Amino acid sequence: MGIDADRLWNDIEALSRITEPDRPWTRRSFTPRFLEGRAYLERAFRAAGLATRIDAGGNLIGRREGTERAASPILIGSHSDTVPSGGRYDGVLGVTAALETARAFAEAGVALRHPLEVCDFLAEEPSEFGLSCVGSRALAGELTPDMLAMTRPDGMTLREGLRYVGGDPDALAAAARGENSIAAFVEVHIEQGRVLESEGIALAAVTDIVGIARWRVTVGGRADHAGATPMAYRSDALVGAAALIRRAWEMANAAAGDARPLVATFGQIAITPNAANAVPGEAALTLEARCGDEARMAGFCDALLAACADELAALRVSARAEKISHAAPTPCAAEARAAIHAAAGDLGLSIRDLPSGAGHDAVWISRLGPVGMIFTPCREGRSHAPEESMTRQEAYDGARALARTVRRLDAALA
Ligand code: GLV
Ligand code: MN
Ligand code: MN
Repeated sequence: MGIDADRLWNDIEALSRITEPDRPWTRRSFTPRFLEGRAYLERAFRAAGLATRIDAGGNLIGRREGTERAASPILIGSHSDTVPSGGRYDGVLGVTAALETARAFAEAGVALRHPLEVCDFLAEEPSEFGLSCVGSRALAGELTPDMLAMTRPDGMTLREGLRYVGGDPDALAAAARGENSIAAFVEVHIEQGRVLESEGIALAAVTDIVGIARWRVTVGGRADHAGATPMAYRSDALVGAAALIRRAWEMANAAAGDARPLVATFGQIAITPNAANAVPGEAALTLEARCGDEARMAGFCDALLAACADELAALRVSARAEKISHAAPTPCAAEARAAIHAAAGDLGLSIRDLPSGAGHDAVWISRLGPVGMIFTPCREGRSHAPEESMTRQEAYDGARALARTVRRLDAALA
């Protein structure tokens, strides 16, 4: 269907060059580098004949009209922001595959019944404000005033951050789209696991996306002189944090064999005063729990604090937790999954079903209509790391499966 593998790969490479030079591959949301990536994409969207805009939630959207005026749009895309030092293909593949799909349709004069919207969602990865999926939450009407008040370390609020990327925090209500406002959403993404590569399978249709809950955990102790304070008099917040980290590891490992395993990660930590000669007085950590079972995921932090209560008391430290975010486990829609399987069949590509252990914008977009995701292989399952890698052929297969899926959905959906 006219998907050009070289043109697609060229976009992926061009975006990867837009990185913090001393820290490849880094293009964090709400930074000048992110805006540079956005400018590249906006130019490419326009060249593909798409009408572009940044919506109030900071999403870059390129639209091409369909032949049926009343039809809701088919949405395709992903995110162009990255985690620190990773994400050369995570998100970028889905945005560039969607762009290439629109470009191929325009070149071939393909007339779709539905409008097609290519979207680069704002800040899918956890931003410096502590929140992920900012743009897709906005589309779902779930970007709350509390979230807009979240601050990043330099003091900027998310409200200000939205304006920085061209969004409008005062017009979020208008940007939110309701139930049944899209015909479907399809996202191509690297698997971020090793199943497809190890089984030699070209594609996966995602069955469901794991739930993710995050908390800010604060361990309180007392800052003291590291030389003059005897061990018996210390309240070392970092030692308390270490106890929590170890116990979370043990609790999640104990559930590793479950049908719906829970994984837990303390991925961020900041201590004060953070000096070689001071006993840490406070440790601020981010805890994340992921699970297909929403109740277990939601209860994990309380269970952890309860399990550690005696140990923390013996260490003379306190611990409190505050929920940052909660995304429920999300099934992909049967009609989208069927279209993805049929598209792979059309192309003679092998395909299997797979659950997603990573979070995606599709979780929030599922409030708007049916969602589907196409996974491609990546090397050794590495992701959120500089080693993340895939081949031109894998990117090409993902993009042509997307284009086929859109054609099938366009024909099948109301
Ligand atoms: C998204 O990248 C996630 O954290 O799963
Ligand atoms: Mn990611
Ligand atoms: Mn991603």
